[in-house]
Amino acid sequence: MSLSLSADSPAVPDDADDGVWLECIECGETFAPFDDVRYTCDECDGLLEVRYADLPTLEDFDGQGQGVWRYADALPLESGVSIQEGATPLYEVPRLEESVGVEALRIKHEGMNPTGSFKDRGMTVGTAVARELGVGRLACASTGNTSAALAAYGTRGDMETLVLLPAGKVAAGKVAQASLHGARILEVDGNFDACLDIVQDLAARGEAYLLNSLNPFRLEGQKTIGLEILEAFQADYGTFPDRIVLPVGNAGNTSALYKAFRELVQAGSLEPEEVPKLTGVQAEGAAPMVEAIENGADEVRRWDEVETRATAIRIGNPVNAPKALPGIRETGGTAIAVSDEEITDAQRDLAREGIGVEPASAASVAGLRKLRAEGIVDDDERVACLTTGHLLKDPDAAAAAGAEPEPVPADTEGVLEHLQN
Ligand code: F0G
Repeated sequence: MSLSLSADSPAVPDDADDGVWLECIECGETFAPFDDVRYTCDECDGLLEVRYADLPTLEDFDGQGQGVWRYADALPLESGVSIQEGATPLYEVPRLEESVGVEALRIKHEGMNPTGSFKDRGMTVGTAVARELGVGRLACASTGNTSAALAAYGTRGDMETLVLLPAGKVAAGKVAQASLHGARILEVDGNFDACLDIVQDLAARGEAYLLNSLNPFRLEGQKTIGLEILEAFQADYGTFPDRIVLPVGNAGNTSALYKAFRELVQAGSLEPEEVPKLTGVQAEGAAPMVEAIENGADEVRRWDEVETRATAIRIGNPVNAPKALPGIRETGGTAIAVSDEEITDAQRDLAREGIGVEPASAASVAGLRKLRAEGIVDDDERVACLTTGHLLKDPDAAAAAGAEPEPVPADTEGVLEHLQN
């Protein structure tokens, strides 16, 4: 089955619950959404998607509910375990816009969510589904942000949380969050992909409910990033953005945005040619999606060795690739790899505009700059870059990218003298 941008509405299967069901993207098998715990297809192990009998138009989001839950009509439940996630700023960045050289550049700063990353949008839905399913223990593998969100939303929903982190490769702010919100933290002697292999095994054995982005319900919450961007561009420019640039790790967000746009096409709110070009950015040391896009491959090759300063996207096996590759291709987007130096430069560029982001987030801006310089992005484009996590997530990276503090004596004369040098 192809995930194309078509206006065809799906047939509603018998196992739908209130117009909601799960469907395999590979073989089309359907499942009731909340009867059993299930992450992939029973028949072929393909990825699952949440499907709806009735899809809302943009006009249907009528201002009831806040943030993510303003879009409840596009979500599998009416309400969730909420800490007021979503409704993040879409900043103007005039100097950066001019130096990149595009018609319009806006920064969708997902670092302004309750735990400081876009993961909260997925967790508010994912933990609500976990409650619906009646599971006790939630688990995830994480490069950090998912673990922080899982810990906060899990405790808020009164559920136990277990997180598996790659030892020594998670930024300090994220471990601190998972810890204070009460997750049990297991530090694995391996990379993120090894952690995810283990969590998938634990979930298959019924030891915990998996809340990585392999879980189709998480992506439903993350669709709302795309809905907010479209509404804001329409209000500010009278058109939708030409392109959305985002960092890619497991490619969950890429898949979620594509799904949001496909559903709007089906609902009649968006023409296929109006869909923003989804443009993914990875770090050079962890770029399996970029490799697949460049080679025109149908599948992504798992990279066993990955390295980058942008530890959030230090991922070699993007599990959502079967959903995300069609998203990039069908929208006319592309994918590009950037160096750690380019990432840090972009982090500084954003910081100069007063926008503090962690390294992985700055990859979007670094990628846009590079694509513009290569002429792949045109000067007449209106672009939104996603910045996925807050600066304080990775204080060490921020301090290393910024200026050194200067020691001075504890008296005014000494300070003045120092300032003269
Ligand atoms: N940016 C940040 C700050 C992230 O934390 C992540 C993923 C991504 C981008 C990539 O998003 O997976 O949807 O392509 N972080 C996960 C985690 C893996 O465990 O926090 P994606």
